[in-house]
Parts: sequence; structure tokens; C-alpha cells
Amino acid sequence: MKPKILITRHFFPELVSRLQMYFEVDNHGSNEGLPPAELKARLADKAGLLLSVADPLPADIIAAAPHLRAACNVGVGYNNIDVAACTKAGIAVTNTPDVLTETTADLAWALLMSVARRLPMAERWLREGQWGAWRYDLWLGTDVHDATLGIIGMGRIGQAVARRAMGFGMKTIYHNRTRLAGEMEAKYQASWVTKDTLLREADFVLLLLPYSPTVHHYIGEAELRLMKPTAHLVNVARGGIVDDAALITALRERRLCGAGVDVFEGEPKFNPDFLTLDNVVLTPHIGSASKQARMAMGMRAVDNLIAALTGERPRDCVNPEVLQ
Ligand code: DGY
Repeated sequence: MKPKILITRHFFPELVSRLQMYFEVDNHGSNEGLPPAELKARLADKAGLLLSVADPLPADIIAAAPHLRAACNVGVGYNNIDVAACTKAGIAVTNTPDVLTETTADLAWALLMSVARRLPMAERWLREGQWGAWRYDLWLGTDVHDATLGIIGMGRIGQAVARRAMGFGMKTIYHNRTRLAGEMEAKYQASWVTKDTLLREADFVLLLLPYSPTVHHYIGEAELRLMKPTAHLVNVARGGIVDDAALITALRERRLCGAGVDVFEGEPKFNPDFLTLDNVVLTPHIGSASKQARMAMGMRAVDNLIAALTGERPRDCVNPEVLQ
């Protein structure tokens, strides 16, 4: 008898058919997540779970899944999963690193460029038929080349962004819990600085750190007040790292020039005051949303699930102690 698994969302059909070769698949197949009570009920007899970063897996649901042996996230972040509770229950948790690094760095760069040069605002204005005459001061933005880029979170994606910055002749400073080795700093022409120095000096502050409760509101009013009024903030990391209300106030009071925001507190709901601002570019958590990256992420999660339930070592286990 094939092990039973649950798929919580609509994913590409290629993922589902591959899983069906190995497992008896209960495919929710919808873009709407399962309500907690239904998730509990459908997990009760399952050995495996393929889930998205938008599907919370808290301790009470884990406790109601006595047969569960693997929870495989389609995403590099896994703050939606109570990993400690999974570890206690002997459930392997996996994520999908690497395959979305360059794609997410591309989106970070696109947001940075968009807000610096005010592309969506200028485009909207043109579409509205407001372009009457050439103007010397039409839609003036901020130069990206030669500016100082401050990267907070210098992991894989941070490093991919630093590489892009070299092509723009930028000075790159970064802040990270652990400092990169000297040869890596030389490779990316990046210097480690304190968080406060980075916030004070950077023209563009890019957030790329993973979410955990310790970095909740890592950027709040006090941090925003350290930034230059000419500076821009770009968040492609996770909602909750920035205090969105404080960001909105700083943007409204022009204490900050602009922001690019891909992730929000409480998403898919977000603070509606963002919509009243003309100095912010908003995107709906699409950092890794290229066809290629999403297929690669899905397949990597599928590989992890197959490995975990067929006695192999899943490649991306974030709690390897359960595999002992
Ligand atoms: C991730 O992989 O964590 C992304 O945020 C999902 O797109």
C-alpha cells in the first residue's frame, strides 16, 4: 500500500503526477488554504505533507497528525512551520534553498530600480493621459549607480544582490549575524558594518534576513529615523520584519524617500494606508515567482518528500536530528 500524503495548495500538475507515482495523494489543489479544522482532519491519516509558505503548521495541528513523518515546504523560508514541535514528533521538515536565489535577487533588484526611478508611478501617470509636455523635472528619481547599498541578511540571496550591485558601481555594506570570510567580502566588494551604521549610511537598504520572532519589527520607528531622508528601503524578506505602520508614517512624512515592499504583516491582507502613498512600490510576495524558479522549488520539495518517505535522506532537511 502506498503511503498517504496531503497537498495543501494548487501546485503545477507535474508535481502532483510525480507524487502520484509514489503515494496515495489527497490534493486540495486550491489557491485558498485549508481552514485549520479541515487541515487537521485531512492530515489525521497522512504520512507526508507538501505545503506552501502560506500554510501555517502550528503545534496543535502537528499533534493531530500521528502518522506524519515529513512536512515539505515549497519555499526557502519555513517560519510557517513549528519546527520544534515537528522535531519533537519526529517529523522531518524540509525547504527549497538555492533554486530561487537568483530569481529572488532579480525581484529585489527590480523593486529597487522601480522605486528609485519611480517607474510604476510614471507609467500610471502616462496611462492616465497626463503627459502634456516635455518637462525638465518630469518624474525625477534617484541614481542607483554609484550609490551605497546596505544589505541586511548576507546569505545566498544577499550575496546574489551584492553581485548585481558590482555591475552598477555601488559601494556595498552589509550587516549579518556572522561576518563573511575575508575572501567572500573581497569577492562581493562588501564590507561588514553595524546595523546602525548601515541604516545611517546606505542610500538603499535591502532586507534579506529570514523571519524569526527575534527579528520581529527589526525595522521600526527608531531604525527608520536613522535612515537618510533620501534613502529607500526594500523588503523582499518576510512580513513582520518591518513595522509596516511605522514605515507608512516615515514615507508619509518624507523622512524616507521611498520603499519597495513585496512582503507584508498579515499578508495577503495588508495595511491599506500603503495605498495612499505615492512613494512606495507594492508587489504581492512574488520574490521567487518566475516559472522556472517555481517549477524548480516544487520539484525540489517533491524530491524531499519522496526521499523522506522512501528511507532516503532528504536533501534539504532543516531538522536533521530527526533523521538519526
Ligand atoms: C520563500 O521561498 O520563502 C519565498 O518567500 C516564497 O516565495
